[in-house]
Amino acid sequence: MAKEKSAIFIIFGGSGDLAHRKLYPSLFRLYKSKVLKDHFAVIGTARRPWSDDYFRETVITSLEDYFDDDKEIMEEFAKHFFYQSHDVNDSEHYIALKNLAGKLDDQFEAGHNRVYYMAIAPRFFGTVAEHINSEGLKTKDGYNRLVIEKPFGRDLDSACELNGNISKAFPEDDIYRIDHYLGKEMVQDIPNIRANNPKLEQALNNKYVSNIQVTLAESIGVEDRGGYYETAGVLRDMIQNHVMQIIGAIASDDPKAKEAKVIHKNKCDLFASLKELSPEEVDTEFVRGQYDTDKTGEKKAYRQEDNVAEDSNIETFVAGKIEFNTDRWSGVPFYVRSGKRMPDKSSRIDIVLNDKVKELGIRPNSVVTLLIEKEDGNSILINGLNYKDAGQDFIEFPEEAEFDNAREAYESLIIDILSGNRVHFTLWDELRSTWKYIDTIRERWDSQTPEFPNYISGTMGPDAAEMLLERDGNSWIWD
Ligand SMILES: NC(=O)c1ccc[n+]([C@@H]2O[C@H](COP(=O)([O-])OP(=O)(O)OC[C@H]3O[C@@H](n4cnc5c(N)ncnc54)[C@H](OP(=O)(O)O)[C@@H]3O)[C@@H](O)[C@H]2O)c1
Repeated sequence: MAKEKSAIFIIFGGSGDLAHRKLYPSLFRLYKSKVLKDHFAVIGTARRPWSDDYFRETVITSLEDYFDDDKEIMEEFAKHFFYQSHDVNDSEHYIALKNLAGKLDDQFEAGHNRVYYMAIAPRFFGTVAEHINSEGLKTKDGYNRLVIEKPFGRDLDSACELNGNISKAFPEDDIYRIDHYLGKEMVQDIPNIRANNPKLEQALNNKYVSNIQVTLAESIGVEDRGGYYETAGVLRDMIQNHVMQIIGAIASDDPKAKEAKVIHKNKCDLFASLKELSPEEVDTEFVRGQYDTDKTGEKKAYRQEDNVAEDSNIETFVAGKIEFNTDRWSGVPFYVRSGKRMPDKSSRIDIVLNDKVKELGIRPNSVVTLLIEKEDGNSILINGLNYKDAGQDFIEFPEEAEFDNAREAYESLIIDILSGNRVHFTLWDELRSTWKYIDTIRERWDSQTPEFPNYISGTMGPDAAEMLLERDGNSWIWD
């Protein structure tokens, strides 16, 4: 259990969806577990002219959606919340924010620590970071940490520009780029699982692995996020960040490493070794899809969704084969897949071992599955069975370390921010490599017109996604 932390949070976009759905409930959990107790305050800031009281009401209302605690404790918590109307382009407003933060720091004895949280549109990230610096919001004797939500750019050029802007204002060590998959317990536990299971770790290389599959499937469509989705698509929204970071956890060297710098270096090295694709290889190694209506015709096709163009070519499904040029991994396909309107929600890693693993005492061709969200009470499967029932002893996991999805990703990431632990945040060098890789695919796709829609809602995506593996003599484990 982390001990009590002190800080003033300034939440840019404090009236928005992310703040109310994710941040305030997570802060409340930390309040209930006393990680946040007496020495913290939250300044919500956005353009609309809310009063403190009104802001607190919205915070309590959002908590009521997730918790059935007494209103009294929610009201006590909400007393730490303050609202400051602010337009990101107005320098004067930053002075008002600075003064309010200073006053609250005295009132709550917050140790001059500041967390600047960007829960606003990405186009404002650079402007806000620059103003925090130029208007002197940073304190001298506490910490000043900048938290950036995704998406971090929409291609390599825009990510470079954004990074240039924020790094003029904040040193890299004070920048916390969120990829909320890195806050999920299973993703955080992957290095532990590897470090605690020498046989599995011994098998994780091109001698013993046939292929590794990462699937992030959703059964829902774009819902009310059509406007955002039209600017993104799955490639940018899921593959560049979440899928790559999951691969980073499973395939980086040295899972025993504890220091953030070492862990990041290992991940950077892995991503720097991504095997580049030629434009022609994009056609053979990656598949894109867009959902049509379902078999009954009841569900909307993507092109019928609100705020989506009738002739949209945005992909709602991607499958692809990624490879790395390292001694450890060269020749091993990492098949990745993410899509909307698939039959079920599932986030999983399937490690498909080959027949040589018998020399390690593992049954040939075993499949180890790590479920990122627990399914049917299971978190680790061997050949589809709970690892404890699978009759193979190469995975043992200390009971106390077993994850239970009890911590919300944002709760865990906020503890890390308050503790100055950057392990579960993404470094610029990682993003540079992954964007470069993704840009090749995007550019190729943007130069061609796809035949969309090409898969029925509720199915596994276009047939080409199956063929991608069949061609190599493999098949998807989650099917
Ligand atoms: N929502 C999610 O689940 C989610 C998930 C992952 C990442 N994100 C990222 O989180 C960020 C916020 O997303 P969101 O969904 O919360 O957006 P949102 O609901 O549209 O909220 C945007 C916030 O920004 C404020 N704002 C807009 N223009 C402003 C300006 N000129 N000056 C000051 N404040 C301004 C808005 O309030 P006013 O209109 O009153 O100014 C509002 O509080 C985005 O970067 C998004 O990509 C969101």
